Amino acid sequence: MSQLSQKEQWASKIGFILAAAGSAIGLGAIWKFPYVAGTSGGGAFFLVFLIFTLLLGYPLLIGEFVIGRHTQSDAISAYKKLAPHTLWHVTGWIGMIACFILLSFYSVVGGWIILYLFRAVSGELGGLSQVQYGELFGQLISDPFQTLLAQFIFILLTIIVVAKGIQQGIEKASKLMMPALFLLFLLLVFRSMTLDGAIEGLKFLFVPDFSKLTSEAVLYALGQAFFTLSLGVSVMVTYSSYLNKEQSLPKSAISIVVMNAFVVVLAGLAIFPAIFSFGMEPNAGPTLVFAVLPVVFNHIPFGSLFFIAFLILFLFAALTSAFSMIEIIVASVAKNDAKKRQSATWLIGILIFIVGIPSCLSFGVLADFQVFNRTIFDIADFTVSNVLMPLGALLISLFVSLKIAKDTLFDELRQGSTISKLFFDIWFFLIRYVAPIAILIVFLDVLGFLDF
Ligand code: PFF
Repeated sequence: MSQLSQKEQWASKIGFILAAAGSAIGLGAIWKFPYVAGTSGGGAFFLVFLIFTLLLGYPLLIGEFVIGRHTQSDAISAYKKLAPHTLWHVTGWIGMIACFILLSFYSVVGGWIILYLFRAVSGELGGLSQVQYGELFGQLISDPFQTLLAQFIFILLTIIVVAKGIQQGIEKASKLMMPALFLLFLLLVFRSMTLDGAIEGLKFLFVPDFSKLTSEAVLYALGQAFFTLSLGVSVMVTYSSYLNKEQSLPKSAISIVVMNAFVVVLAGLAIFPAIFSFGMEPNAGPTLVFAVLPVVFNHIPFGSLFFIAFLILFLFAALTSAFSMIEIIVASVAKNDAKKRQSATWLIGILIFIVGIPSCLSFGVLADFQVFNRTIFDIADFTVSNVLMPLGALLISLFVSLKIAKDTLFDELRQGSTISKLFFDIWFFLIRYVAPIAILIVFLDVLGFLDF
């Protein structure tokens, strides 16, 4: 390839959709959603999350796609092209910083999956009770050497794939991993829902009790909606910049939203019935999934084999999300230079690992180091999920509706599809008014300025 090669593109329609869905579907749906729903009121949280996903997430996803495909540029240059000599490209910087911090703690959890996988393969995870799994997992994640090594391996895998580029790396990997994940989840859901007492778990997830919905829970639902769709950080701007004009943006966006919501529901259906059936509490926090799922697999014939398969796919789901986090930074640094891409990916990956070390240790030696009752890991997560992502989403919604001409927007939405004027008007209304106002209200409410 020449030094300054032509801009790479996705090889196929489905390749782009799966890569974007791969970015969306990850720890957010499988690991984070269950424990945040567990501590934030279950059904009511889930309902608010779904509403945010449809009314804010879907329009914003289209918005990020428009910016990316229209400019065919990385996250910083895209804003510069559309609004030259302004400060709007700060939005791209917020995305890059958010993704940098995000991967620094995301890789910690990715590392936990790797550690569990090793244990499962060596046969150490079979036949324990959920209390024993909880204890074992607690010990595992407090061991500094193992967790740091596993975190490093997770980042290394991310670097190796992303350094290869879009088609050969990210697209190929996503096409294989995502469908397999769906299938395995179905099996898990079936088993969990046929456990004794599963119905209590379904009630917890689907029957909303609004008395449990605090303003903080609403913020978490908003953060979670953006987090699971990878929104607000210009990752979707970057991914859609490799997209040609034949693809329909609204259609691609809806497939991603639906697939993602489907996995969120599947994860909920796999986990909550089991939690209630085993008499556990749903508010165990970040370790929840790791203590519950192995027990469900113990109740399945050949469970230990399925558990290994599940962990591999869980790891893949986390990796496809990690690819997108590093890709946004690499794309902005390397532009379309294939050689620079290699070195940039390595350098950025290693820096992220170093920055992530305190997050990793905050489940062990640094557990007592807390600010406002939060560990370093929690602070990193809160900063990204509940501050930077909603802030980025606010800026993007304003940018799309204020800085791109309405005709251009309509043209972009119509490329590759036939959408009605009504669809366009509703979308525009949602992104121009509903999204920014809703985000502001949720922010102000949490800061205590509103009295809901
Ligand atoms: N959507 C990913 C998940 O749910 O695990 C997390 C994520 C990936 C957030 C990439 C943001 C991002 F840019």
